[in-house]
Amino acid sequence: MASRTAGLPEELQSFVSSMAYRMSPAEKELRESTAVLPNADYQISPEQGAIIAFLLTVIRARRHLEIGVFTGYSALVAAKVLTESGRVVCCDVDADRMTTARAAWQAAGVAERIDSYVQDGETFLRRLVDSENANTFDSAFVDADKPNFRKYFEYCRVLVRPGGLILVDNLFRQGRITRTVDEMDAGTRVLHDLMHSIKADPELSYCIIPVGDGMIVVRNKRT
Ligand SMILES: C[S@@+](CC[C@H](N)C(=O)[O-])C[C@H]1O[C@@H](n2cnc3c(N)ncnc32)[C@H](O)[C@@H]1O
Repeated sequence: MASRTAGLPEELQSFVSSMAYRMSPAEKELRESTAVLPNADYQISPEQGAIIAFLLTVIRARRHLEIGVFTGYSALVAAKVLTESGRVVCCDVDADRMTTARAAWQAAGVAERIDSYVQDGETFLRRLVDSENANTFDSAFVDADKPNFRKYFEYCRVLVRPGGLILVDNLFRQGRITRTVDEMDAGTRVLHDLMHSIKADPELSYCIIPVGDGMIVVRNKRT
């Protein structure tokens, strides 16, 4: 979540938003219709979408996992760049938002590349693990339900192949990540602990991209 990048002055934000990505009319329409909704800032920014699309292109992703669809923007940008016969497999608990997302994917011509489920993230991920999908994804984007991010990350480590990418959103928690641990809310504490454990694991390559509300990018490795 975060439809703009933290700390960018207005003029730079507008420059980056306009130049970051070759936006199709369907994507533009989805951004405009989402901008008037409550919680519009759940939607990732154009520049974050561009980074996700770029990373998936570089690793030639074919199967991409997403937890947290909202109105469908991040799944749309991913679906566009998957290699032939690729699929985005995604979930969200909000049935109304999923209806909006599915209509947007249809309008953008990518609906047949997206398998979407109205389901809680943990149930969805456990079902994928139980149905022999371990190692079958090239990438994952975790963007829902902060208190469960750690759990989702661990499921993604099983589902994403070694060398694949796991992207975790909202590291900054709108600045709350810099508070002392005692002052953190539960969701921020989870991001804090996850970030520290990734940094402490010499087996994991990672970086923080300060886009939107901060995104962690981890190159998966089987433990
Ligand atoms: C920040 S938004 C996702 C934004 C989306 N990636 C985009 O680019 O537009 C987070 C979404 O997570 C969903 N969500 C909240 N709790 C969830 C859960 N336990 N399992 C799955 N989805 C959940 C919310 O309904 C919301 O649509």
